[in-house]
Amino acid sequence: MNPPPNLNHLARLYRWMELASFGPSLQQCRCSFLAELRTCRRALALGDGDGRFIARLLRDNPTVEIDAVDASPAMLQALLRRAGADADRVRIHCADARLWQPPAPDDAPPYDLVIAHFFLDFLTTEEVQALAARLRGSVSPSAVWVVSEFAVPAGWFGRLVARPVVWGLYHAFGILTGLAVRQLPDHPAALRESGFTLRQRRSWLRGLLVSELWSAGQPHLANAQLSAREMCGANAITDAQSAVTPSSL
Ligand SMILES: C[S@@+](CC[C@H](N)C(=O)[O-])C[C@H]1O[C@@H](n2cnc3c(N)ncnc32)[C@H](O)[C@@H]1O
Repeated sequence: MNPPPNLNHLARLYRWMELASFGPSLQQCRCSFLAELRTCRRALALGDGDGRFIARLLRDNPTVEIDAVDASPAMLQALLRRAGADADRVRIHCADARLWQPPAPDDAPPYDLVIAHFFLDFLTTEEVQALAARLRGSVSPSAVWVVSEFAVPAGWFGRLVARPVVWGLYHAFGILTGLAVRQLPDHPAALRESGFTLRQRRSWLRGLLVSELWSAGQPHLANAQLSAREMCGANAITDAQSAVTPSSL
């Protein structure tokens, strides 16, 4: 297993690098399903970086408590600063998310929300699969998992624009942080394999960015047994779409 990339020196710059390259699109993507997360109570945030999403979630949802796992101490400090007065609802864990063990079921209630914005692309498909399988036992049956990711859509835009952009990002992060991964994982296959079901998918910049809402419930259970009110974020989980597998680079 490669060591996690080192983003410490980027923690203060990260936001500005993002704004300079993609404008507000990444934050729009992260916040796409915020309205559906207002009833969540216990969240696990994987690699949330400087915490812009967590700060928004804490403001919008006054009761949610969050475990934030990130390998970068500087990112975690930025996250706490940004959370401000709400930081007492965040527990930080400086750890490699591929190895981090969620609390045992007897020690803490299950998570009803998992957050992974622009984080799964730092892992291989096998690593996403192992992570999802491990988390499956720590989430409630009504839990949701929000994912934001880069993607390479089919067609000329994917071939001529999205693929080179993603290639450039991987190589830039490789140089700046030591990231060894060089292609997008097939995270939809990995999440499905571990029993998660895609409920909604939205895209930006002609499909270069996607935002997804997954649920821990099986498709037939979701339709037959889990009423909308039982599901965290239920209002949005009505027009399920089929999973779309991102192309490998
Ligand atoms: C590209 S940044 C994304 C940050 C944020 N989620 C966003 O939406 O911009 C990836 C974050 O994941 C963290 N990270 C990368 N690999 C990790 C790993 N194996 N375990 C824990 N954190 C990791 C990095 O330190 C960084 O904060």
